[in-house]
Order: sequence, then C-alpha cells, then structure tokens
Amino acid sequence: MKITRWILGITGGIAAYKTPELVRLLVKQGSEVKVVMTHGAKSFVTPMTLQAVSRNPVYSDLLDEDFEAAMGHIELARWAQGILIAPLSANRLAALAHGMADDLLTTLCLATQAPIWAAPAMNQQMWHHPATQSNIRILQERGIQLLGPEYGEQACQEIGLGRMCEPEAIVANLFNAEKTILEGKHVLISAGPTQEVIDPVRYLSNRSSGKMGFALAKAAQRMGAKVTLIAGPVSLPTPAHVKRLDVTSAQQMYDVVMKEAQHCDIFISAAAVCDFRLLETNNHKIKKSDQHQNLTLNLVANPDILATVAKLPKRPFCVGFAAETENFEHYARQKLLEKELDLVALNDVSNNEIGFDANDNALTVFSHHQKHEITKNSKENVAIKLLEIIGEYYHAKNKTKST
Ligand SMILES: Cc1cc2nc3c(=O)[nH]c(=O)nc-3n(C[C@H](O)[C@H](O)[C@H](O)COP(=O)(O)O)c2cc1C
Repeated sequence: MKITRWILGITGGIAAYKTPELVRLLVKQGSEVKVVMTHGAKSFVTPMTLQAVSRNPVYSDLLDEDFEAAMGHIELARWAQGILIAPLSANRLAALAHGMADDLLTTLCLATQAPIWAAPAMNQQMWHHPATQSNIRILQERGIQLLGPEYGEQACQEIGLGRMCEPEAIVANLFNAEKTILEGKHVLISAGPTQEVIDPVRYLSNRSSGKMGFALAKAAQRMGAKVTLIAGPVSLPTPAHVKRLDVTSAQQMYDVVMKEAQHCDIFISAAAVCDFRLLETNNHKIKKSDQHQNLTLNLVANPDILATVAKLPKRPFCVGFAAETENFEHYARQKLLEKELDLVALNDVSNNEIGFDANDNALTVFSHHQKHEITKNSKENVAIKLLEIIGEYYHAKNKTKST
C-alpha cells in the first residue's frame, strides 16, 4: 500500500527549519500532509509557513476544546497512514520511549496503528549519551524506523553524529520502502520460537525473539502484500494491517501453516521451530525428589513444516532460514536442496550482534545458482532487502512458468 496520508511531527530542534522543504517534497510525491508541531518546534519554524506549504491547518494543542470535540488526537491517529517525526529532539525521543502522552504528538503516536518513522537530530554529545542511546533502542525494538542521524558539521559548530538527514534523503527512503513489489500477493510468514511441553510448569524452547519474522511481516505489508503472520510465543506488537495467528507448539504451528499455505503465494519460514517434542508429556510436575541423578526425556521429531509446504502439489514460493553456528554455506545449501526450497537466508547465530534477539541482522541469501549478501543493518532494513530479493525471484519464476 502506498502511503498517501502523512502526519509530519516536528519537534524542538534546530533542524526544524528544514521542514517546509520536507513538506513540499512529500506533497510532490502525491501525499496529503498534516503537520503536528510540539511547542518547542514553534521556536524554530512558524506554523504559518507549514500551513502554507501543506495547505492544511497545523495542529499543536492536545487540550483544544474546539478541535473535533476535543478528540483531535484520535481523529489524527486514525486518519494517518504513516507518521514521520522530523526532526526528533532528544526530549521528545525520551517522551516517546517512555510512552508519555503529554502533548499532541506523543499522544497520537500512542493512539495510532500507523507505522512511524523518525529522523533524530541533536548535538553529537546528546546523541551519544547513554540515556539517548537507551531510548533509541526502545524505539527500535517497538518497530519505529529510524532515518539517520548523519555525521557532519552541526549547528553548534561541533562535528559528529547527530545531523538530521536531508529532506531529499528522508523522502527517498520513505518512498523506496514503499516499493510495491509484492502488490496483491499473499505472503505467509512464521515467526518466533515454539514451546514443547515437558510438564505443567516446564517446556523446551529456543532463543528466537521473533523480531526478524515480525520485521518481515511489517515490511511485506508495506510493499503491498496481504500478510498472515503465524507467531510462536513472543511479546511483540502486531504490525499494522497484518493478520496474526498465535500458536505455542510446533504441532500447532504445523496445523495452522498447512491450512493457511493453501491460499498463499509466498511462504517465509522465519520461525525457529523446535525439532523435537516429548513423546509423552507429564500431567503432573516432575518432582526433583522422584529423580535420582539423571532425568531422561524421550523425544520424537516434530513435523518439518517448511519441507511439507514445499512438497504441496500447488506449493507457494518457499523461503527458509538457516540459523547456523558453523559450516555456514554447506548447511544453507543442503537445506535449499533437501527441502526443495526457492531461497534460503543464512543467519550466523554464533555472532551475538546479529544472532537471536539482536536488533540487527546480516544475511547471505542462496538461490540455486546465486548468492546475495545483505550486510549488517537493523532487522527492519534487512527485511526490506530480503523481500526485494524474494520479490525478484518470485516474479522471475512466475514469468518463466507463464511463458
Ligand atoms: C538554539 C537551540 C537549538 C536546539 N537544538 C536542538 C536539537 O537540534 N536537538 C535537540 O534534541 N534539542 C535541541 N535543543 C533543545 C530543545 O529545544 C529542548 O530540549 C526542547 O525542550 C525540545 O522541545 P520539544 O520537546 O518540543 O522537542 C535546542 C535548543 C536551542 C536553544
């Protein structure tokens, strides 16, 4: 879905002087733009200028009795298809990270389902401060997409990281991410771990956080796909406009995937499905006192979801993940061939910076004849790059089929 209804949130940083140009560029892309300014922002750029370039009233007050019967924040939150905050000051960043709702902008960010992008801008010392870095991580974990900041000369005459990205770069990034390569396609994504019951209080599982699968779901939806996300037990918010089905065990994931796979064009198996479950689960808690020195658990293999989907008579385009700690390329290629997949994305999970639960990732994507490197980046950006590759191969395969 191409986003055409944007809220531009402007906060109190010097880079606010660049925002009239930002509005102009968004409008040039065919967007309708409504500007929301914090009180700090008004010291750096005038509402009058932004009203003129956006051709809409500029909003600022949360407690405004006249604005939509004082429910303006909800109206704006529902109206927006995308929210861009540029510049994002250190102060409003802290407020957003901690779920504050003390002005119109932060309140509508809590009230909206629309995706949010933010272009932080501040003095380089402020940017590197542990408080700011911790707030940034919180926003990233919630799926807010960061644009910049950039390195360079600052208004305070220091040189460092903290400049707001230029308006052209922000708009290019927003609309690049809006590529419609998956328009009209139904993409099924599995994400997160599974849990295999041992007894009423214990289970077997793994360290998957689900972040990569959720980032893929969000990006695929923004690239025009209808997305169904089958999630193992994770504590992540559902991306906007994505159908989410929660499961716990590998068997449950298998059942739901097999049902949904009948109707999808592309299946991306990003879940870390437990390979084994207990042959028999215990109805009562296993007591330590009942065991001597060792406890033996009898395990049986779970069904291989991805391999089963790939063998369906009318199979979707199948993409697997290979989370490996050694012999990377060998295991990835083996998975591609043995499971008869279209693509495999190899993940080095021995590296803590990009492995399970990290916010960043780096992938090597294998097709039967080529490989593509996706260098280290946030999981959101890696998801976009991976989907671009998937889209290209998917369209090439379907073109070959129809000619
Ligand atoms: C001249 C001047 C420039 C400033 N530039 C920035 C900036 O670029 N980034 C930032 O985070 N704060 C900056 N500040 C501090 C903010 O304006 C201040 O924290 C303010 O409370 C933020 O308002 P807001 O919460 O409405 O964003 C600047 C202050 C002054 C006086």
